[in-house]
Order: sequence, then C-alpha cells, then structure tokens
Amino acid sequence: MARILITSALPYINGVKHMGNLAGSMLPADVYARAMRLLGHDVLYICATDEHGTPAELAAQEAGMEVAEYCEKMHAAQKEAGDHYKLSYDYFGRSSAASNHELTQHFAQVLEENGLLEERTSQQVYSNADGRFLPDRYVEGTCPNCEFEKARGDQCDNCGKLLDPVDLINPYSSVSGSHDVEVRETNHLYLKQSEMSDKLRAWVDASEGWPVLASSIAYKWLDEGLRDRAITRDLKWGIPVTDSDGKPRAGFENKVFYVWFDAPVEYIAATKDWAAETGGDWESWWRTDKGADDVEYVQFMGKDNVAFHTLSFPTTILGSGEPWKLVDRLKAFNWVTWYGGKFSTSQKRGVFMDQGIDIAPSDYWRWHLMTNAPESADAAFTWEEFQSGVNSDLANVLGNFVNRITSYCSKKFDGTLPAGGEPGEAEAWIVKELETRIPALVNYYETREFRKAMAETRAIWASGNEYLTQAAPWTHYKTDVDQAAIGVRTGINLVALFGIIAQPIIPDAAAKILGAINIPEENRTWNFGDVSDIAGLIDALPPGLPVAAPELLFTKIEDEDVADWGEKFGGAA
Ligand code: 2FM
Ligand code: ZN
Repeated sequence: MARILITSALPYINGVKHMGNLAGSMLPADVYARAMRLLGHDVLYICATDEHGTPAELAAQEAGMEVAEYCEKMHAAQKEAGDHYKLSYDYFGRSSAASNHELTQHFAQVLEENGLLEERTSQQVYSNADGRFLPDRYVEGTCPNCEFEKARGDQCDNCGKLLDPVDLINPYSSVSGSHDVEVRETNHLYLKQSEMSDKLRAWVDASEGWPVLASSIAYKWLDEGLRDRAITRDLKWGIPVTDSDGKPRAGFENKVFYVWFDAPVEYIAATKDWAAETGGDWESWWRTDKGADDVEYVQFMGKDNVAFHTLSFPTTILGSGEPWKLVDRLKAFNWVTWYGGKFSTSQKRGVFMDQGIDIAPSDYWRWHLMTNAPESADAAFTWEEFQSGVNSDLANVLGNFVNRITSYCSKKFDGTLPAGGEPGEAEAWIVKELETRIPALVNYYETREFRKAMAETRAIWASGNEYLTQAAPWTHYKTDVDQAAIGVRTGINLVALFGIIAQPIIPDAAAKILGAINIPEENRTWNFGDVSDIAGLIDALPPGLPVAAPELLFTKIEDEDVADWGEKFGGAA
C-alpha cells in the first residue's frame, strides 16, 4: 500500500468553471484518486479555491460585493459544483484561509533569510480613475511594434510581440477605459529564481513519470534563463507582506503577495486545515522529516500552470531549505476546446459546470471528458461526440450487458444467483481476455494514461457482451439448466467486476449496478494485485445472492437534445 498525495490546480474564484477546466485538472485528479483508493492505497486528495489577485477583485466589483463576501459565496458555489460532479476531495480549502496567510508569510520569511528575496524598484502603470496600479494585462494601448490599437500590456495579440506596458503608445485602463493613467515607481519583493536555476534543472533532470508536455515546458524556461520574479503586488485583497515580527513590512503596507506565490502554498495549508478538521497528521504528508518521505505526490494541471509548478513553486520549496515534499509525478493536460475554439460566456460558447449538470447526469460528463482527455493534444468538445460516446459506450455496451443478464437472472432463476454447471470454453475465453486486460487497466491508471484506461475499461465491458454471445444461457436453458446456470452466474460475476471498475469514472451508475446485485460496500474494492486467479474472481459471488435488474442506468441522448443544446450553448456553425 502506498501513500499518495494528490492535488489538482486550484480553480480561480471568479466564476464557476467550464467543462474544459473540469477536464484539465479536477476531474482526472478525482478519477485517479478514486482508482488509487480502490486499489487499496492511502490517498489524500486536496484542492481549494484560488482567491487572490486582480481578477477576484474585479469580479467582486462587478458583482457589487465586498471581495471577502464575494469569495465566500463563490467558494460555496464551486464546492457545490464539485459535489455535483462527484469530485471526492478529502478537503476543499480556500487560499484566503488563515493557515495560508501564516504559511505564505513563513515561506517569504525563510526565503529572505536565505538571501533569495530582494526589494527592487520598478515602473508600473497607475490608473487615477481606478485608484489602483494596473497589472500588465489590464493596460491596453497601441502596439509600438505593429500599431495595433488594442494591444495588451503583456503581449500584442496582433503581432504576438511580448510587451512591457510602459512601452504602449496612448495607454488606457481596460478596467474603466480611462486614459488618465501614468507611470509610477513602486517597490516589490523579487524572488531570485535565477539563482536557483542549477538546482531546479538537476531536480527536473531527476524527475520520473512526467509527460513530455510537462518536462518540455520546464526545460524551455530553464533554457531561456530564469528571470527573477516580483512576488508582491499593489493590491488590497490578498496576503499582507509582513516582517518577522508579524507587523506590516515598511513600505509594503498597501501591498500583498502575488497570487501565484501564495496559491501553491495553499496545497500545504489546505492539508493543515484538513488535519485540523479530521485529526489527520498533515506533516506526515508534507514534511520529509516527519514521514512524508514515502509519500508519492502527484499534481494535476493544465499546461499553462506547468511553469509555476515546475519552477516557481519548487523555487519556494527548495529555496526555503526546509524539508518540504516536492512533486513526484506531474500530470499536465492540453486544452479542451469548444468545437476547436475558446469557451466564452459572453458569446454563449460552451457549457459551464453549473449548466452541465442540468443537461445531463454527471456520469455522462465524466465518461465523455475522460475518454477524450486532452493528453497528447488539444481535444475539441462536440455535442455529437458527447452523444455518441454516451449512447454507444454507456447505454449500448455497459447498460445493455448489465440489463440483459440481470433481467434474465430475475426472470428464469427467481432473482437469485444460481449454483450448478461447470466452466467450459466460453468461461475459458473470458478468463483469458481478463488476464491481459485487467493488468493493462491497472497499469494505465498507475501511469495516469487516462484515454487508454478508458478504452481498456470499455473493452472489458464489451468482452461481457461477447461472453454472453458465446455462453448463450438462453439457448441452453431449455435443454440443460446447469449449463445455463454457469452462464448466468459468470455473467452476474462480470456485472460485479464491471461495476467495480466503473467506480472511478461513473460512480453513480456503478453504485446502482453494485446495489442491484447486493454487493456489500466492503466488497466493492478492487484489489487485483494478484491476477493469477481470474477464474476465481469471476466465480466469487455466493450462489443464492439476490439479484435484480438495476433501475434504468443510462437514458440515450436523442438527436433533438443535441440540436437543442447546440442552440443554447453553441455548437457546429
Ligand atoms: O490557472 C489557474 O486556474 C490557477 N488558479 C491555478 C492555481 S494552481 C496553484 F494553486 F498552484
Ligand atoms: Zn503588435
């Protein structure tokens, strides 16, 4: 049994996330957490809302609320959305929690003691109308390179050139549209990432089990040369910059830590809050001097988060000189696109988590998003594929198999698992099939290759239908009830197996299936460490077990639904 710490990138607080966000971090982390729990590992799955930064302040302003109040409301909304999709967090924290204030300030403190922080003066655009310094992307103006008039301060979308906002011609605030802006001097704390380059490179070199997507991004930044980064901002909402005595740092009274400095620290702080609530031992998960040495730490995130998790946060951890756990395995995803384009609320393109659940059960989303996980490239969501995946894999392959055999058992064997009969050719065939497929499935989960794990799951379900065709209990029933009994008994054992392996992906349907055939909770585990006895596995249920057909498992998605959803949420042009 291993101890596995899992974190998924913290969703920003400003609004419920769309299906692409769900698919690129939280959902695969959940499927992985569930699969590892089923395999008998000790899992801790942590997530939280990422509550600081300018977008949070602006979203609150737009909603006409105080930031703290807005964050509280949106945290609850995101928690609820996660519950709807059955995200099985052990703890869903908040980066604005007291524990994170404390820990973030602690890290800044030790980094400073270790000579890795430095106060520097820089020039930044201040908006008089908004009464605030503007982060780079909130300053717009004319591109000095191509004269595009709506270039953003960090980059021109027209010519692609990376910009410095102070270079924009005729700059204005994109928050208020006001041109009453000026360049002011401001002081910030800089984290000397450049000094950590060699250590970071050695650590990335030694990493194992990262997809190329993750390591290539880390190397790209390392090869370009790491730049020191400001870790404070001129904002009100956030974690105050303090001195060792806990008092506001002189000159930083109106500043807070940069959201990307405190957000990953929340992985640890949330674990502390989990421990406070449950009596767990947070240090044994995070401190290598307190038992975390044997923890395998796995992070899930979209590709835009990789640099922060492979360079910035590790700089904090390594730079602290303290024995904190670093990530072991990092699973990064590309984007889920909406028919090849961007999700957009204003243009009614795409489905957000709160809307999705009104359209279809969470199992449908979970299955579709996992079978199309954007692992090796971006993956386009389309209603047509959503429909065909649900209808063919869930309704036709799994649903049909389960219904056929459980109904038949109810009808012909009084709803009890029959004894009698000897395994023959059909049983030998299914044993052989599972002897290769089950280890393959376990392996795909262990290496976090989700598309392959889903394809293997589907193939296992499909082998059940093939088995029934071969065993054909309905044909034998008239002449040899025992021969029919072995087919039904094996079939029902397969129902149990299929329900068990369905649990990480489609937990609701799995519960219905396992409930209908009365598998006790404690037997819904999945310990295939020893695959040498598949024959025993498919004859494990006790004859006499009451068996019923589950209530309707999957309703098919109709063409009218697809047309209707396409109209409401956008679809093929
Ligand atoms: O990109 C995002 O959505 C960020 N909120 C992820 C933060 S992950 C972290 F906490 F490190
Ligand atoms: Zn330009």
